[in-house]
Amino acid sequence: MRKIKNLEYSDGKILLLDQTRLPLREEYIVTDDYERIAEAIEKLEIRGAPAIGLAAAFACALSLRNIEQNHESEFRKAVERLRKTRPTAVNLFWALDRMENKFRKCTEIENVYESLIEEAEQIFEEDRQMCERIAGNGLQLFSKVSRVLTHCNTGALVSGGGGTAFYIIQKAFESGLVDHVYADETRPLLQGSRLTAYELDKSGIPFSIITDSSAAFVMKYVGIDLIVVGADRIALNGDTANKIGTYNLAVLAKYHNVPFYIAAPSSTIDKNCFNGNSIDIEFRSGDEIRTINGHLVTRPDFNAYSPAFDITPNELISGIITEENLFKPPYKF
Ligand code: MRU
Repeated sequence: MRKIKNLEYSDGKILLLDQTRLPLREEYIVTDDYERIAEAIEKLEIRGAPAIGLAAAFACALSLRNIEQNHESEFRKAVERLRKTRPTAVNLFWALDRMENKFRKCTEIENVYESLIEEAEQIFEEDRQMCERIAGNGLQLFSKVSRVLTHCNTGALVSGGGGTAFYIIQKAFESGLVDHVYADETRPLLQGSRLTAYELDKSGIPFSIITDSSAAFVMKYVGIDLIVVGADRIALNGDTANKIGTYNLAVLAKYHNVPFYIAAPSSTIDKNCFNGNSIDIEFRSGDEIRTINGHLVTRPDFNAYSPAFDITPNELISGIITEENLFKPPYKF
């Protein structure tokens, strides 16, 4: 039984836990409309690299629900729309490519809609299993009971299973290897103070939310044994795109001698990217900085600059954990 139900397909509809409402309200979006799912991805109602891929996989299958003819044009329209939702997480494109492959292989006698739903469910199940293997591989990071710091949100909310970096922390906690977790609040959209805190609370792990700007203080005066974060896209040389602020954290970790690890499924490694320079970074509306929860905190005419992700250079990363292995530099995935 999943503690957190973030995404579920049932009876021709998809349920998405609306992450913009958490942790104050647990509300579900229920829809069979791929356009509504595309909007949910854009608005971060569903978010986190693996979950974006999962939602997109179900969305392009749903584009063919109740369609008797012109399968191909409906399907292509949906895939093209979904490809435009968010540019950085490669899992989105990986999942859509896989759904396109499945579509091409469907024979005339098959019910295309059902075959595509089966493929999306298969991706979901594989993701769940990958989370288990990532967490298993990640346990070797803990040589003693540790204080851990993390950024953004990487647990059950972002995957078909327990998540990536978060799940490693959760499994380590269950093995008595985690003393306390410090969760960066993750400005501007507060994935840390809203979502990671929600997951830590559900898992019974002792934690403190900190402002992003407290990280150096906490490393120096509290003492952090390990930092583990997720990824939206990993280049072949190990350069890693993740939530804005990850790069700051990696620089601080180097200065304070704190091991800094990335955890992600291998679908986050982009075999077409040789280094971080070719990763497409999403820029979001300045309103997300000028407001908090819809309330203006500065003047609406003040200019804001809002990259949603940054790229941590490989030399700041101690290692990358996937479902296959713990990779150390120089990276050979
Ligand atoms: O903009 P978001 O909230 O989708 O960004 C999410 C992150 O940066 C996560 O750290 C990343 O997707 C890994 S989730 C396992």
